[in-house]
Amino acid sequence: MMKLSERDSLLRGAYWVTDAGACSGVYVLEEGKIIIDAGNMYGLVDELEELGPIGNLKSVYLTHSHFDHIGGLAEIFQYAEPDVYIHPIARGYLDLHRDPFPAFFRELEKYGKLKLVREGDVLEGLSGLKVLHVPGHTAGDIAFYDEASKSLFCGDAVLSYKLRFGAILSKPDEVCGGRMIDKLNTLKSLLKLPVRHLFPGHGEPIFEVGHDQIKIALATLYQSFYEDDQTKAWEEIGKALLEAGYEEEANQAFERARKVKATH
Ligand SMILES: [Fe+2]
Ligand SMILES: [Fe+2]
Repeated sequence: MMKLSERDSLLRGAYWVTDAGACSGVYVLEEGKIIIDAGNMYGLVDELEELGPIGNLKSVYLTHSHFDHIGGLAEIFQYAEPDVYIHPIARGYLDLHRDPFPAFFRELEKYGKLKLVREGDVLEGLSGLKVLHVPGHTAGDIAFYDEASKSLFCGDAVLSYKLRFGAILSKPDEVCGGRMIDKLNTLKSLLKLPVRHLFPGHGEPIFEVGHDQIKIALATLYQSFYEDDQTKAWEEIGKALLEAGYEEEANQAFERARKVKATH
């Protein structure tokens, strides 16, 4: 496990699970009381027990309904009974999984262990984790923001451009209500957030330059939208940067737009 406080003391009690073979990234908070996402491979429980008995696990916060983020619950519930938190829209998509998962979630609900969370809710963890609704990849994606350390746990809403399959793993899933226009608006609103550390659902944690990563994700998206019109792409990137208050960088984008136009 990677101890995140070695990079920023404000991230006390937080870890990134590196060895569980967990398919999605799993982040641990409060020395093992809370995890964000559960991956979908066996071995997570062993990893978590490095910090103490698995019975210490009280809460699992799910960024969205995809199986690579929730499958690990099957192993966890053999040893512990944490509360599971999810957005109401993502709750609906849990029923799309194969048996026994839909029945498992209905059972959790019956025992009051499935908790629905929405934009603006604040959950335990670090200095208090603010829930942000970040639709686009699916309609029910949420991210968790810690104001003190300026950390964003973003699931698949933003993935590193360095990750080989990042674009594919974060693309809109229409079956679960994913839409490109929502993804665009989500990235635009995340651009306004001061993000220092970005903790994505796949790939390694991104320390210090989280904000740049969001910018790159947005720019890449605009470039793919306007593949045949890079002038328009750079103009749109410039507008989004200006709207988010980054005047200098916006001007650089507008300058790029002018240069592309001049060469055509
Ligand atoms: Fe994923
Ligand atoms: Fe996903």
